Amino acid sequence: MYRKVYLKTWGCQMNHYDSNKILNLLKINNNLIVDNYKDSDLIILNTCSIRKKSENKVFNFIEKLRSFKKTNSNLIICVCGCLSTHLKDKIFLRNNLVDIICGPQSIHKLNKLIYKFIKYKKKIIYIKSSKIDKNYIYNKDFDNNNIKLSTYVTIMEGCNKFCSYCVVPYTRGKEISRSPEKIIDEICYLSNNNIREINLLGQNVNAYSGTFDDGNLCSFSSLLNIISKIDKIKRIRFTTSNPYNFNNDIINCYKNIKKIVSYLHLPVQSGSNKILKLMRRRYNIELYKELINKILYIRPNMIFSTDFIVGFPGEKEKDFLLTLDLINELKFDHSYIFIYSPRPGTESFYMKDNIDLIEKKRRFKEIKLLIDNNIIYWNKKMLNNNYKILVEGYSKKDSKFLFGRTENNRKVYFIGNKNLLGKLINVNITDISNKNYLYGNL
Ligand code: SAH
Ligand code: SF4
Ligand code: F3S
Repeated sequence: MYRKVYLKTWGCQMNHYDSNKILNLLKINNNLIVDNYKDSDLIILNTCSIRKKSENKVFNFIEKLRSFKKTNSNLIICVCGCLSTHLKDKIFLRNNLVDIICGPQSIHKLNKLIYKFIKYKKKIIYIKSSKIDKNYIYNKDFDNNNIKLSTYVTIMEGCNKFCSYCVVPYTRGKEISRSPEKIIDEICYLSNNNIREINLLGQNVNAYSGTFDDGNLCSFSSLLNIISKIDKIKRIRFTTSNPYNFNNDIINCYKNIKKIVSYLHLPVQSGSNKILKLMRRRYNIELYKELINKILYIRPNMIFSTDFIVGFPGEKEKDFLLTLDLINELKFDHSYIFIYSPRPGTESFYMKDNIDLIEKKRRFKEIKLLIDNNIIYWNKKMLNNNYKILVEGYSKKDSKFLFGRTENNRKVYFIGNKNLLGKLINVNITDISNKNYLYGNL
């Protein structure tokens, strides 16, 4: 089987990580990867269902393929990712263009599904999660011209939390943790291919509960301890953490494991306890602040980023003001703000979506303004101070500059020698005039 494949991805890091696996899998079968769908005869869409906007993007793209499919009878269209589990009937019914639907847990079956479709010419839906872990395919996307130093590794997938607004427990299924041995094997493989920074991925990484080959359980804090012993790995990040599962053992890792970065993405969603309860977040603001303070006590230089949902059903002005207060108090850095989107199948879909879009947009803008100010606040704190960066490559605009990233994800340009590539070095921040990147000296 030889096909020209076009792959398009929407959604979170995990979907992008899965897409990489899909590419690796298709390359094994000698398919050719193309950049333009018009040059392809196999289109794979790795989709996201988190908000209506994400869904619309996918359906609009599928519609765009209608005329192309008419003139290319050989064309196969395959939908993978979260939309394929969430809205599989809608995908088939509304567009009648899609040939294969493959769930996020089944991507390692893609070659077989495509072969079966070619043979029998019958539409296929395959969304089962099988016993074989799709993660047996390692991501080998190493570009020889640019050393890649940082990458993701999935440690767990799915979610058991059922926050009232969220589709993920339905699309990705129950929490499943990979075995620690397999994770370590993958990280060792990556570290032998230049990787120095690992970002552990999961919908709730701190709910990780793996099983060693001998049957013993491995918690997230144990996993962090083991990974920290891999010599070539210099930095450890993880995302996403749910405040609910962030126990004292994980907090203590900030004391014992220097490789864990002093930057944490900890989605809060709202500053109002009333809204957190309606969202079924399982924590209140007091607990959230207590958690932040415990981490700050161990690592005073920690910086936090977060997610917000604005305009959740029942969010009154006073609830919104509590969110603004929280931002001012905790000084969240770069954060994601989302306008509430009612999703079919979730609990809040049946709550009255009673805030109009203009008001939602106003609240969005107000939060954005505060967060932008916080970004500048942290940049100012960095000025004239020393920070460790992992040197990743050359500036595209001016090759005398190298660049690297700080633990709090600031891109820093500096003049230096190419033998610094791949190393962790100290730079002094000298220029913060641009919000998105900084300059420094060795
Ligand atoms: N597991 C993570 C979040 C994963 S989803 C956690 O619980 O913290 C990423 C973000 O999408 C969420 O934090 C939330 O802010 C946003 N989101 C999820 N469902 C949404 C919806 N229906 N409308 C708007 N934003 C939503
Ligand atoms: Fe969604 Fe809540 Fe699970 Fe996060 S914890 S993925 S927001 S259900
Ligand atoms: Fe989207 Fe699924 Fe990720 S819904 S955000 S692709 S887990």
